[in-house]
Amino acid sequence: MRNVAVVGYGLSKFGERWEAGLKELVSEAAVAAINASGVEPKQIQCLFTGAMSSGRFANQEHLGALVADQLGLTPIPSVRVEAACASGGVAVRQAYLALASGAYDLALVVGVEKMTDIDVGHATTTLGTAGDYEWEVFHGATFPALYAMMARRHMHDFGTKEEQMAMVSVKNHSNGSKNKFAQFQNLITVDAVLNSSVVASPLKLLDCSPITDGAAAIVMASENLARKFTDAPVWIAGSAQASDTLALHDRESLTSLKATKVAAEYAYKQANVRPNDIKVAEVHDCFSIAEILAIEDLGFFNKGYGGKAVEEGETQLNSKISVNSSGGLKACGHPVGATGVKQIVELTMQLRNEAGARQVSNADIGLAHNVGGSGATAVVHVLRR
Ligand code: COA
Repeated sequence: MRNVAVVGYGLSKFGERWEAGLKELVSEAAVAAINASGVEPKQIQCLFTGAMSSGRFANQEHLGALVADQLGLTPIPSVRVEAACASGGVAVRQAYLALASGAYDLALVVGVEKMTDIDVGHATTTLGTAGDYEWEVFHGATFPALYAMMARRHMHDFGTKEEQMAMVSVKNHSNGSKNKFAQFQNLITVDAVLNSSVVASPLKLLDCSPITDGAAAIVMASENLARKFTDAPVWIAGSAQASDTLALHDRESLTSLKATKVAAEYAYKQANVRPNDIKVAEVHDCFSIAEILAIEDLGFFNKGYGGKAVEEGETQLNSKISVNSSGGLKACGHPVGATGVKQIVELTMQLRNEAGARQVSNADIGLAHNVGGSGATAVVHVLRR
């Protein structure tokens, strides 16, 4: 297998982008990534697009060809990758495998979702299709409800408090306030989270990631080309993916995502690093409890200590480990197909020292963690400068 690097990145503004269509979001992110990479469009050999449910959200399928067409990149091979909210991370991994195998030398990865053109009820049902439709969604178990059950169990087993979950959102809004691409750039308080309307108890509005329009893109190159385009390639040191049951009731545990643990173990092994080596991590905080589960499952903190770690400030910028410097899904926003690619964009910025006000000092190794559904897919990447 050959080494593979990220050589360019781009983002669209995340948020309620009613003035922009899906194709415009793709162009905003992809043109920025291609321009930043110094790669000529005609040099790009293959294209991977992460998108969860463009048919239901935006009445548009066949995104592989559509994105190639929109970007003027036909006739290169172009596929759409779907793994629910992990579609972007899995698209990055497919491009990594294509380049590492020697099949191609230059790839473009795009992640996109245009979610706000349908009402929130339909968006909730669409997101629910990432769970087990017959056993969960049909009976009213929305994603906030599924994560609320995980939160309740974590509170029961480990004494995790609603205040500690609220602190995840407060931190991520603080980080998002330093990110001009973020959907929410306002500071919030623990009281504001606790007093926001209940969505699925114990999760309140401000424990939830929002519904978002947005796109992210990266250009990836094999080792023989990477340094031709940039002095600062960011290397994919580990790439791993794992799966689990779709339905929560079939899992061994409600307080841990096994797919995350398995994917992390393989990614750490490939990269030859330990959790303690990671300086900056983008983790899948679709709900505040999800960040607490993630920092435990990824081995940053002991099982059950995640809430306390957040309370002690151990996940703030430039603390023990800087978690979700972009603002995470909570504040930066969660256009589901784009999120996994945005995580790689954020880490590339951090490892290149290009993250401005939210720069993590001495960021040399980063980790991206992207989850599909309530944990049926997990993909973990370890990046090095
Ligand atoms: N965080 C902060 N503010 C939010 C927000 C969030 N998650 N969601 C909505 N808002 C704000 C809106 O900007 C709006 O503010 P305004 O009145 O100043 O314009 C206000 O709250 C009401 O927005 P609205 O769109 O009517 O909210 P809603 O009640 O319809 O939806 C949720 C809120 C939490 C139900 C929705 O964001 C949601 O379903 N989130 C979870 C998404 C999800 O499950 N993703 C997949 C995870 S696996």
